[in-house]
This record gives sequence, C-alpha cells and structure tokens, in this order.
Amino acid sequence: QSADRGAFSGRTAFIFAAIGSAVGLGNIWRFPAVAYENGGGAFILPYLVALLSAGIPLLFLDYALGHRWRGSAPAAWRRFRRWTEFLGWWQVLIALIIALYYALILAWATNYTIFSLDQRWGDDPAAFFGEYTQALGGADATISFDVVPAVLISMIVVWLAVIVVMALGVQKGIAASSVVFIPLLVVMFVILVVRSLFLPGAIDGLDAFFRPNWGALADPAVWIAAYGQIFFSLSVAFGIMLTYASYLKKKTDLTGSGLVVGFANSSFEILCGIGVFSALGFMAQAQGVAIDEVVTSGVGLAFIAFPTIIGEAPAGALIGVLFFGSLVLAGFTSLISIVEVVIAAIQDKFGLGRLSATLWVSVPMAVVSTVLFSTTMGLPLLDVMDKWANEYGIVAVAAVSTLIVAYLVRGLPTLRDHLNHHGTFPVGRIWMLCVAVIAPLVLGVSLILSTISLVTSGTTYEGYPSWFVLVFGWLMAIGLVVVAIVLSLIPWPAGSNLFKAD
Ligand code: PHE
Ligand code: NA
Repeated sequence: QSADRGAFSGRTAFIFAAIGSAVGLGNIWRFPAVAYENGGGAFILPYLVALLSAGIPLLFLDYALGHRWRGSAPAAWRRFRRWTEFLGWWQVLIALIIALYYALILAWATNYTIFSLDQRWGDDPAAFFGEYTQALGGADATISFDVVPAVLISMIVVWLAVIVVMALGVQKGIAASSVVFIPLLVVMFVILVVRSLFLPGAIDGLDAFFRPNWGALADPAVWIAAYGQIFFSLSVAFGIMLTYASYLKKKTDLTGSGLVVGFANSSFEILCGIGVFSALGFMAQAQGVAIDEVVTSGVGLAFIAFPTIIGEAPAGALIGVLFFGSLVLAGFTSLISIVEVVIAAIQDKFGLGRLSATLWVSVPMAVVSTVLFSTTMGLPLLDVMDKWANEYGIVAVAAVSTLIVAYLVRGLPTLRDHLNHHGTFPVGRIWMLCVAVIAPLVLGVSLILSTISLVTSGTTYEGYPSWFVLVFGWLMAIGLVVVAIVLSLIPWPAGSNLFKAD
C-alpha cells in the first residue's frame, strides 16, 4: 500500500520551492536594518560565519530528517524516535500561528500595490496607515475588535489564493507557483534596485549601509543578531524544509541543493540591502536629515517609509508597484510553505487525500486568520504574536531539537551517513560539531538574552496592555508546547500514512 503524499518532479522544482520559502519578508524588510545596525559592511563577517556554521548545517539536518524518515514533521520525528513526535507537533503549531498573521502582511502588501498607483496615503503615510488599520495611536491604542473592510477583502483574496495553490498539490501548486513567482520576483526587484540606484542620495544610502564598523565585531550582540537573521531567513528548524525534503525522490542531491538554497537566499538578501538603502538614502536627502533617522525595518519600513519615498520620488508609482509587488510574491511563497507544514501533518495523521487535507486545514485557518486579523486587533496581535512565535517558537524548538538529536538520541552519525549517501557535498565531523555545539549554544544564549530583556522591561511589551502580552505572547508560546505534547500522545489511526510504505 503506498501513500499518495505528493512529490516534487525533481531537484529544480524542490530548489525553487525551498528558495520560495526562504526568500521572504526577512530578506526584504529585516536584513537591511539588521545589517546596518550591527556593523554595516563589517556585518558580512559574522553573517557569513553564521550562514556556514549554523544556517546551512541546520538546513542539512532538516533535509536529512525529512528525506530519511519521509514524512511531515510529526510523522518524520515519530519515525526517528517514538518519543520525539512532540517536536513535530510543536513545529506544526508554530507554523499554524505564523501563518495566521503572515497572511495579514500579505493582505496589506496587496492593497498597497494598488494604493501605489494613486498614492492613496497622501502626504502623511503614517497617519494613513493608522487610519487604514484603524489602529490609530499604534501600540497605545486601546485593544478593540472592529472589522476593517479594506483589509477584510484582501485577506479573503489572499486565503483563496493559498487554498487554490495548496489544493493543486506539491508539484502543480507549491513548486509551480515558486517556479513562476521567484524569477518574477528577482526581475522586479532588480528593476527596483536599478531605479533606486539612480535616485539622488542613493550613494549616501549605500555608503551608510556598507561602511564597515569593525569595532562592532567585538560585541557579542552583533554575532547573536547574525545567527538570528540566518536562522529566520533560511526557514530552518521549524518543519518547512523537513516537510519539503520528504517530497523528494529517494535519489536526490540533498547537500548540493542545500548549498544552492542557502547562497541564493543570502544573495537576494544583499540585493535587498542595496535596494532598500538606496531608497532610504534618497529619503534622507529629500527630507534633509541623516540616514540614521530614516532607517527602520518591518511594518514601519514597508508601510510608512516606502510610501514616503514613493511620494517624493519621480515615477513613484512604479517604485511602489515593484516594491509592494515584490513583498507579495516573496511573502506568498513563504506563506504556502508554512501552511504546507500543517496540511502535511494532518494528511499523514489521517491518511487523507490532497484535496480533503487541504480543505480540512486551510479553510478553518483562513476563517480564523480572517476573523482575527481583519480587525482593529490585527496590528497589535501581529506585533505580539510575531515576537513570541520567533523567540519562544522558532528559536526554542531549534535549540531543543538540536540538543535532543545530538545528545539524547545521538542520531547525528546516522543522519550524516544519510546525507553522504544522498549528496555531492560531503559532511562529517565539522557538520556534527556545528549542529551539536554551535547551533544550540547560540540559540540558547539568544533565548536567555531575550528572556532577560523581556522580563526586565516589565509586563508590557511595546506599550501593549499586560493581559494582552500575557495571553497572546507568553500563554500562546507555552501553550503550544503543552498542546504539542498532548497531540503526540494521541494514537495514529490505522489508515494513517505512518503505517504506509512510501
Ligand atoms: N525565511 C522567511 C524570510 O526570510 C521567513 C519565514 C518563512 C517565516 C516562512 C515564516 C515562514 O522571510
Ligand atoms: Na530569507
């Protein structure tokens, strides 16, 4: 009896899907500011060290687990060792939470692509964004729950697109959309970069971005930031790459593919730094302020700084469509990769077909995400959930799982052998050292540091009410672990994919 789990047609399809997952908002709106604030040009050193000593080694680990044990996160972890199944459910739950709010950013970006044409934000983008999200006053706003119609419509559109792609399956949906969207994204972004480079002030922006501050290398926080960026940017250790690798044919070059994915993601990241800082350099000059004053990241960069740039630059509408269109493409291919972690788990658990697994998972997710995030609660929820899902989700599960694999199970030699049977790039002692020592060490330290900073900053985070942070931050993050353990205790039905040969 064979399980009809779906498969990638080949290595190229897999590589595009994996790059589609890796290249996301982290590249466009996170990397440029992280690099700038952590040594500028000098950041390249810790960044490359982090890529080679932790990012790519953990990518290989994900690939080895998914490919050797051929399953969604819970199925693969369970086959690895019966008692490690909870790690898989923990990853599934983190993916579930992230997907809920990631869709909101896509919905905003979709609307802003259209808003770029008539620059609907007028000459005060910050006020417009507040009005548009109905979260006027930002973090200090009282928490309310009213529908924002413009967001509601695009949330529905985003989720419908996700459902269609997921229903089409691993090859015809996930891989096919990445094969189209990723090259399109690169073309659009290159045009955006070239256009931005010719804006007055662009050179000053680049100078600020690349100017090395070698002294920063002595600061441990800079190194932690480099590892944090790499972990997030490569989508490692939260089930995505593991799930994708389970759809690969038995004979595939795992390590060679991993290197392609790792370097493609980082190259795009540098390109994003160039594009964003050219634009910020222009903005600083247009406003007659220092670059330092205009550098932001995340929601502020995309939905407040860029609209300002678009308003001031010649042919701003073009810049707007290219920038927000890029966000949509990069974000969409990441969103489908997170949703797939959940769909694959349910499909394996109940032995479902592709269509029913897609509908059972993504329709409820779409409803919850749309109901929660199309409201005035959207922005505050996104802020808090993102912080905790990253710090106590991705970072924690990565730390715990590497420690378990390396020390409690002592599974690294088996995984190393698997990688060497299925890869052109040989791995050995150094790889095991990276996975067993460097990764857990850096992850553990960053977990401790962020806990200290959250606890010492009091019960409030960014000015949100403490009950809100408690419920959607701490309780959510801890609850995921508890629910994961409970889920791992539920027996697998006889019809599940766990008992089918692949
Ligand atoms: N790797 C993605 C990025 O750089 C991050 C991400 C992917 C987050 C998938 C969540 C889910 O933006
Ligand atoms: Na990335």
